[in-house]
Amino acid sequence: MRAGGFTLPSFAKINLYLEIIGKRPDGYHELSTVFQTVSLCDRITFEPADGLRLRCTDASIPTGESNLILKAAHKLRERSGFRGGAAIFLEKHIPSPGGLGGGSSNAAVALIGLSRLWNVDIGVAEMQELATELGSDVPFFLYGGTAFGKGRGDIIEPAADARCPNILIVTPDIAVSTPDAFARIRADSLTNTDANRILLNCRFESDAFDTNAFEFRNDLEAAVFSAYPEIEQAKQKLLELGADTAGLSGSGASVFALFEKEETRQAALEALDERINWRKFAVAAISRDRYREALGK
Ligand code: C5P
Repeated sequence: MRAGGFTLPSFAKINLYLEIIGKRPDGYHELSTVFQTVSLCDRITFEPADGLRLRCTDASIPTGESNLILKAAHKLRERSGFRGGAAIFLEKHIPSPGGLGGGSSNAAVALIGLSRLWNVDIGVAEMQELATELGSDVPFFLYGGTAFGKGRGDIIEPAADARCPNILIVTPDIAVSTPDAFARIRADSLTNTDANRILLNCRFESDAFDTNAFEFRNDLEAAVFSAYPEIEQAKQKLLELGADTAGLSGSGASVFALFEKEETRQAALEALDERINWRKFAVAAISRDRYREALGK
């Protein structure tokens, strides 16, 4: 690695809860969601360079200007006035697409990593603004841990760490398009006033998300399951194998399951061995403290 270079983890997320409140005048959907970072992660190396370059271990990931890492780099350069470059290397492990926020996480970590590499500090509010411009899920990855997402999912309220004992993620080999998944939802339209009212009133009551007391919900499930029955099969299989909770993450195709006992998760993992088209990840929740420490914040 070149002098001044460093590597940061870029963690995946699951949605422990995702409620669609309605369709907004701007075409997005008003959400009430609970995000949780998990230990599955990509690794991003940042090194000083003259121009901006991105390389990736996975040939199926576009490394041109459409990549959110380069978009984040350009936005940070514009906003900070910094003129230098960076050589960025993405070691990809998070399935893409997969409903695990891989691209969004990469974008947020690019903002954090490049701010450090370039020694620029644009302030928290501006970082959040850039993150929101990059995508609805990007602001969450400036926080990590357990957090409530409102608005498009971009208005983040950090919450107490959720109790997520043993997590197993299963990703069938299906590329679900997020815009298509949302387009299949027949949500009521919101007026501007509705959206404001919802933002004020629709907050989770407690500051801790209790995975025992809360019923899992993801309003994208029905539409995604009817288009791709194999994804529903993955959820059913996880429940049959003893998961306490199982459900779609984001718009999929990943399904996550929570197991009270490590032995049950291990047995489930082994039972799923024969499903060679399903990627399996036994992961742990990453708390906000752990997240901040890993990102050197
Ligand atoms: O914000 P992001 O680019 O990640 O969103 C991808 C697509 O998902 C949007 O273009 C929109 O079609 C859909 N979406 C939505 N409501 C949200 C978030 C995403 O309709 N709250």
